[in-house]
Amino acid sequence: MLLKQGCIWWQNCTAPPLIVQPDFQRRALGVIIVSMIHKGNLAMTEVESSVYERVGGDPVFERIVEEFYARVAADPVLRPMFPEDLTEGKRWQFLFLTQFFGGPARYAVERGHPRLRMRHSPFPIDQQARDHWLSHMLAAIDAVGVEESARNEMGDYFERAATFMINREAESDNLMHYGQGKSSE
Ligand code: HEM
Repeated sequence: MLLKQGCIWWQNCTAPPLIVQPDFQRRALGVIIVSMIHKGNLAMTEVESSVYERVGGDPVFERIVEEFYARVAADPVLRPMFPEDLTEGKRWQFLFLTQFFGGPARYAVERGHPRLRMRHSPFPIDQQARDHWLSHMLAAIDAVGVEESARNEMGDYFERAATFMINREAESDNLMHYGQGKSSE
């Protein structure tokens, strides 16, 4: 509509030229540049601030792991798969989660590549076990209370990864226990 009425610059144009003040042009350019810089800064902020940092680092992950394991310990489907002493598992879980969500790479130093699917292969993880595991992890995060964007990122990851860990069809009549699982490794 504007261009039909006139030309902004000096091209061959029969319509009367639109006068665009140089001052206006400068300001428009300024707005574009400032918004590009602004967007750049926002993008950098998002890249620089990990879930680990946003939720509050080690102390918060420690509480998530405690909450999670308390639920696992009381779960009749999951408990038999875990060893009697949960201490070591909690530690690996803590080191893995803090590393995965942007904290220090301590799991890698001590344990190497996570190879989670391989490490979970001794345990009969069917849809039901996956659903229990996931609901406990999400409940643990909610019990600790993390900010919404971190909650969403964590939830998305756990949903996908827990599904990826399924390695059995329904396993209701053949629950393998931790010791048996270990010996077949
Ligand atoms: C988001 C999905 C999951 C993640 C990120 C995850 C993470 C982990 C990690 C880091 C470990 C310790 C591995 C190590 O020894 O270095 C572990 C162990 C284990 N996970 Fe998972 N896991 C997931 C899903 C599941 C599911 C769905 C089950 C179902 C029951 C499960 C059952 C177990 C068991 C039984 C152990 C052994 C615990 C122990 O040795 O104390 N995990 N998991």
